[in-house]
Amino acid sequence: MKDIYAVKGNIIFTPAFGKYTIFKNSYIIVEGKYVKGVYEKLPLKFKNISVKDYGDSLIIPGFVDLHLHAPQFANLGLGLDKELMPWLETYTFPEEKKYSDLVYAKKVYAALIKELWKFGTTRSVVFATLHKEASKMLMDMFAKSGLSAYIGKVNMDINSPDYLVETTEQSLKDTEEILIEYSDKYDLVKPIITPRFVPTCTSALMDGLGKLAAKYNTKVQSHLCENKDEIAFVKQLHPISKNYASVYNEANLFGQLPTCMAHCVLVDEDEIDLMVKNQVFAVHCPNSNNNLSSGMSPVTKLINSGIPVALGSDIGAGHSLSMLNTMVAAAQVSNLNYATKNRTEKPLNTAEIFYLATKGGGKFFGNIGSFEEGYEFDALVIDDSTLPIVKTLTLEERLQKFIYTGDDRNIKIRYVAGSEVKEPAF
Ligand code: GUN
Ligand code: FE
Repeated sequence: MKDIYAVKGNIIFTPAFGKYTIFKNSYIIVEGKYVKGVYEKLPLKFKNISVKDYGDSLIIPGFVDLHLHAPQFANLGLGLDKELMPWLETYTFPEEKKYSDLVYAKKVYAALIKELWKFGTTRSVVFATLHKEASKMLMDMFAKSGLSAYIGKVNMDINSPDYLVETTEQSLKDTEEILIEYSDKYDLVKPIITPRFVPTCTSALMDGLGKLAAKYNTKVQSHLCENKDEIAFVKQLHPISKNYASVYNEANLFGQLPTCMAHCVLVDEDEIDLMVKNQVFAVHCPNSNNNLSSGMSPVTKLINSGIPVALGSDIGAGHSLSMLNTMVAAAQVSNLNYATKNRTEKPLNTAEIFYLATKGGGKFFGNIGSFEEGYEFDALVIDDSTLPIVKTLTLEERLQKFIYTGDDRNIKIRYVAGSEVKEPAF
């Protein structure tokens, strides 16, 4: 029989967009990896199972970060005074070059994974670099940590510096080697096809990656419509294509397999329609878009159109790995969108933002980010007793206070797929 146990505390999750489900002082029954049910009283048939009682703590789903760049952790908070294209050339490409050195890569990746653990990010979708060996090492390190991730060896074969570029052939060969070796190696860590973005990929490379995605049934991630100069460059490179999204779509890299696209700040109506049709995830990266002056993503419009939306820290263009910080930035950008665009789109409320950071991103992984029956049990135990709470708060208010004023020190326990994950020791 599979292991079965219960956790007890104040349970909060959002099974639907913006709709809290709250159980005070209740039980989540976990069987193997999965949630079996949530109960106010322990049912008789479970009376002999072990109960981990977390007292007055909050129990919430683990956070999901659908877009971050592992090597850029070394640059966190540095060089955020330029727009996208000069930022890449000045700060980012020179840093990524260093990941041919596995000793350096290991040092940064160990620190990154510990930080993700610290902030309660139980699932993430990650860009590595173009280096095959460092990308494999990153997958092995994630697997060892117990955290779950999709990890992409980056592909770039044009419009890249001499020190950070591959031939089309080598790029496809290295990618396929990783897919063969890693597609079934781990349960919680999987490879993902990762063309950096249209400007740094030839059509031949993108076509080849589309074929690999189909052959190995692999998910896809990239960047879309982040910045005006980037979009103009894509237009110049692909004058015949209808828009930026079409370039990916023509290579079968736009929802033919589950796909997430970071940013989508400046997507046009046709691109929105295509994202809806192909159910391509838009990853909202508010800190990054603020830091690089990319703009304000029309998140509410994307959601209302029927696009699945998630949140991303996008470090190092984003300056924080904390999904708490990212959620607050998403709320603030949403408010500014409302205030500056004729007050048409209602700002996102806290329950909606919380959904994006849990079940919204979790959908990319499967049944993740909620405590509904059959969901994998990813959870955080939050002790908010050290926050300056000076009046009686409802459980919903305690969650709000944690999101806005709490930090990693309030996160006491992390579970991924039914198992408690301790601080990674590398
Ligand atoms: N577009 C292509 N590469 C990158 C990157 O590393 N960061 C961001 N924010 N956008 C990109
Ligand atoms: Fe990015």
